[in-house]
Amino acid sequence: MSQSFSTVYQHSIQNPVAFWGEAAEKLHWYKKWNTVLDTSNPPFYRWFAGGMTNTCYNALDRHVDEGRGNDLAVIFDSPVTGTKQRYTFREFRDIVALFAGALQSRGVRKGDRVIIYMPMIPEAVVAMLACARIGAIHSVVFGGFASHELAIRIDDCKPKVIISASCGIEHSKVIDYKRLLDFAIELAHFKPEICIIKQRDQLKAELNEERDLTWNQSLLGAEPAQCVPVESSDPLYILYTSGTTGQPKGIVRDHGGHMVALQWSMKNVYNVEPGEVFWAASDVGWVVGHSYIVYAPLLQGCTTLIFEGKPVGTPDPGTFWRIISEHNVAVLFTAPTAFRAIKKEDPNGNYIKNYDLSRFRTLFLAGERADPDTVKWAERNLNVPVIDHWWQTETGWAIAANCQGIEPGPVKYGSSSRAVPGYNVQVVNSDLEELPAGQMGDIVIKQPLPPGTMLTLWKADNRFVETYMKQFPGYYQTSDAGYIDEDGYIYIMSRTDDVINVAGHRLSTGAIEGALCEHPDVAESAVVGVHDDLKGQVPLGFLVLKNNVDTPHNQIIKHVIEYVRENIGPVASFKSAIIVDRLPKTRSGKILRGTMRKIANSEEYTMPATIDDPVILDEIREGLQTIGYAIKSKSITKDA
Ligand code: COA
Ligand code: AMP
Repeated sequence: MSQSFSTVYQHSIQNPVAFWGEAAEKLHWYKKWNTVLDTSNPPFYRWFAGGMTNTCYNALDRHVDEGRGNDLAVIFDSPVTGTKQRYTFREFRDIVALFAGALQSRGVRKGDRVIIYMPMIPEAVVAMLACARIGAIHSVVFGGFASHELAIRIDDCKPKVIISASCGIEHSKVIDYKRLLDFAIELAHFKPEICIIKQRDQLKAELNEERDLTWNQSLLGAEPAQCVPVESSDPLYILYTSGTTGQPKGIVRDHGGHMVALQWSMKNVYNVEPGEVFWAASDVGWVVGHSYIVYAPLLQGCTTLIFEGKPVGTPDPGTFWRIISEHNVAVLFTAPTAFRAIKKEDPNGNYIKNYDLSRFRTLFLAGERADPDTVKWAERNLNVPVIDHWWQTETGWAIAANCQGIEPGPVKYGSSSRAVPGYNVQVVNSDLEELPAGQMGDIVIKQPLPPGTMLTLWKADNRFVETYMKQFPGYYQTSDAGYIDEDGYIYIMSRTDDVINVAGHRLSTGAIEGALCEHPDVAESAVVGVHDDLKGQVPLGFLVLKNNVDTPHNQIIKHVIEYVRENIGPVASFKSAIIVDRLPKTRSGKILRGTMRKIANSEEYTMPATIDDPVILDEIREGLQTIGYAIKSKSITKDA
């Protein structure tokens, strides 16, 4: 560690071209870039413009070609099926190349989209890298989303092929992925030509003879595919994430900028060297899984770990420690909710004592704010630094972190540390005036953003500009609010939009409201996030019924819970709703979700000046009390 954090950071902000140009030299390019940063069409900045590369080559073949073919690339550990597998870089490269050849033989070409809807099995990672290898654009859809959400994504990105599995295993439940997939295709207007299904022993899927192939059938007669050189700014993947509306946003990531940023982050943020084992206990359906199960560790030449299981119940709260000790994990990255689940079942950390964790160096947390209690519990029981870091699907890698490979700073509880090199983060008011240290405001990032951040939204450049770049000209609007202290430490306090965070999973309250309003008895609905000790937040629904509905209320509530599960998916964890006569609104008709959220969370609130009828808030409070909410909040002042 030769340079101070502040020297590295200042260099990245003052001379991003030199900074990232140097980082890019560490990777393989078929043709060098013409310019490190193309600024000709803001806010559509392009990194390494004119460069030709391939992410799969850099993640796998490069290591084989450099003599590391026999080193371990991937470990699969599945306590739910009792399976453990290990693959060297050469083995994994060969498997990926063959499957890429299978895709090519079915007509998949550069720029074609491929949806991957799979549980956490090696084939999911193989499929992603195979797409990258031939320049196809993958779009992984998280398995916890139900058919309707999958159908929206099918219609948006129009995949030539969908790759799935016969089933996934959640705790001890077998989830019939193929049934969900078939229904999604039925719902979607766009129909894929081919579905490739990995048949698993726990449940065999029935195939549609005209459309479906098993994974093994797809490989018959296939020849290994070579890596296809692509433009640095060609899309590597689309990953849908929740926004304010029910229509998810297709975040588009490039090849060149993405691989440079992720490889740089492995040493500088996580302090991991090639050959070490890096484990991101997440799912490839989320950005954490894309970046830190698949791409970053392999680009750095680390061993990555694919885990099919849960922190608790598969079989006990010692699973994480067993895996760390058995596979020599140096760094673990997960969401705080996983630790809250472990802490709940093993408050004294007794399971930890059964394992040798001497090789384990650092725990990183992200996905939601790491609450100080959880951080302290982990520090006390694991005796390693516990680093909260902040990022978003849009950025693809950390915006703020305590960079362990540059110069670790002190840990401040409740903060995700300082802005990472490349990110010029500021807290501003609505007039874009920078606020003094300690004052809450909108968190924005000055453009251009560093490499690895999104290019645009899939087929929606206007929405990209409107959503992220318009409100604060020259800045990216993160939609997070918070403050920065006098040492530059960033505190993320809340979202400024209608996105909630359930067990580290980002969900749109608008999408849940859409599902609720599908119910024939529901006239109107509002969903807010309420505090949950385990999951951080869970959604709570408020329903206004149509006139003359005589269905018993408890039956309607049971039905809407099933609706959300069927439409959005179990991951929404939608378990409670309440029927009210009216929703609180402003005089112009805007639903006062923020005030409802505060009441449900027992927080004090300011009576909105524009409220149409303040009495409704009393009705809401009483209604919540009847379903067991201990509402202590009250209006503190009345706006003039
Ligand atoms: N496929 C199908 N169903 C899924 C799924 C998947 N990939 N992932 C989750 N689900 C289901 C679960 O089985 C559960 O269903 P249920 O209502 O029938 O019990 C529901 O969706 C909610 O899932 P989850 O929020 O994960 O709750 P859980 O009780 O199963 O587990 C935790 C809680 C905290 C243990 C778990 O969320 C966890 O390990 N989280 C940390 C890691 C992480 O995923 N981070 C995200 C980004 S970093
Ligand atoms: P996602 O796009 O799913 O990664 O979710 C991004 C959102 O999760 C951010 O905008 C934050 O609201 C929240 N988030 C992620 N990491 C953190 C963190 N370390 N601290 C606080 N909030 C976080």
